[in-house]
Amino acid sequence: FNYPQPANEPVQHYAPGSPERAALKKALSDARQTTLDIPMVIGGEFVKTAKKVSIHPPHEIGHTLGHYYEGGEQEINAAIDAALQAKESWENMSWEDRAGIFLKTADLIATKYRYQFNAATMLGQSKNAYQAEIDSACELIDFLRYNVHFLSEIYRQQPVSSPGVHNRTEWRALEGFVLALTPFNFTAIAGNLPTSAAMCGNTVVWKVSNTQVYSASWIMKILMEAGLPAGVINLVFVPGSTLGKVVFSHPDFAGIHFTGSSGVFNEIWKTIGANMQVYKTYPRIVGETGGKDFVMVHKSADVAVTATALARGAFEFQGQKCSAASRAYLPSNIAEDIKAKLLEMVQSFKMGGVEDFGNFINAVIDEKSFDKIAAYIDSASNDEKVKIIAGGKYDKSKGYFIEPTIIETSDPEYVTMCEEIFGPVLTIYVYDADKFEETLKLVNGTSPYALTGSIIARDRDAIALATSKLRHAAGNFYINDKPTGAVVGQQPFGGARASGTNDKAGSMINLYRWLSARTIKETF
Ligand code: ALA
Repeated sequence: FNYPQPANEPVQHYAPGSPERAALKKALSDARQTTLDIPMVIGGEFVKTAKKVSIHPPHEIGHTLGHYYEGGEQEINAAIDAALQAKESWENMSWEDRAGIFLKTADLIATKYRYQFNAATMLGQSKNAYQAEIDSACELIDFLRYNVHFLSEIYRQQPVSSPGVHNRTEWRALEGFVLALTPFNFTAIAGNLPTSAAMCGNTVVWKVSNTQVYSASWIMKILMEAGLPAGVINLVFVPGSTLGKVVFSHPDFAGIHFTGSSGVFNEIWKTIGANMQVYKTYPRIVGETGGKDFVMVHKSADVAVTATALARGAFEFQGQKCSAASRAYLPSNIAEDIKAKLLEMVQSFKMGGVEDFGNFINAVIDEKSFDKIAAYIDSASNDEKVKIIAGGKYDKSKGYFIEPTIIETSDPEYVTMCEEIFGPVLTIYVYDADKFEETLKLVNGTSPYALTGSIIARDRDAIALATSKLRHAAGNFYINDKPTGAVVGQQPFGGARASGTNDKAGSMINLYRWLSARTIKETF
């Protein structure tokens, strides 16, 4: 079965007066009139427990969308059992049939559920229409179609044979079950982590973030409608600590596909290491974690290109992208021009709920994030060494709103130049425009992360120098662009150092991790 390289799903723009906009508005208003009642899905069955947890839009915390049901050890064990039970027939299903389920899922999102699915991401995660469209519609569709294409390519790879000897590779799934642990910030990533592993013939326990349950339940519904057999992906809503206790002490644990914080990933890695004697096989550990993503600007840079890269890179989706621009290095010769243009753009951003499509900035995901981000802003306000040059105000009375905030520091190692904040906060540092090479050393050395980064320059030599000196500072490196918005199939995504295992989402590199090849030699 050979699925050709697909084209990226076209982005719909929801322009005023367009039928797409009307359809999305209707989906949003229908969603408000429905009370969500979201069960877990274990072995193809809908599972409810006595513990209901209510769901509120982060931008309108006084409104209740409905609730989901939280499980515990019993449900996690049931999900593992269901995954193990489904394994043999799933792994034996032909690739054509398996692939068809994921291609149909992509088509159902594209043509049947796009607006309802985007509305779930908008209301549940406070994404504006454009951010939801590029995530829950386009990126997830692309992940599904490209992964089918890439896996078709992998399955074709075979060793050579010789007279009297026939050699082949059987691209087996892993032995056991896979855990997918997914984040709130991209519905597409939440969908990609369980489906990419499952596509390879694995069965999966899928634990979503408790702030992404709404859109996750849509992914599960669509997969089931597309024909995913019971038990292949089991969706559970459970506390992380309970999950860890059960899953990481299970002998059939075969691997984890993770996106989330570096701190949590480090703990998971240690727990797996400590439990090694329990497992039948060395578990695969695949994680995409934090970032402290840079924009390095050269004295030859175009001012408007720089300001746009910073404004969009730092503040789209309230800076809650692991790829968000969060530290910028501006050259002294054009720093004032860049700041002026950037402030003009940022001050034009409207902030509010997702139903008003004019709002560029919406709310951050929950109170815990709000408080953490606000604490960074407070500490900058109280520090004489730094200046807040834009934003700085926040308010959680109606929703978790934080103004897009720009901090300027003369200390390149100031705390907000080094630590991941995961919110709408950009820190800038102005450097002597003639000290480009020395400043590249700072860019490379001040943060433990290495996820994304940009160089903005017109001078080719500067671009070449930055590309070389920052070789290990970012897994996704952008020239004259923002450091966010990787497109599946075009820019495989992931970083190293404290940013993860760099197993590039949306590429063969990632899919290989969910396969365990068997070499078969037959002599005649
Ligand atoms: N893949 C996402 C981006 O590139 C995280 O922004």
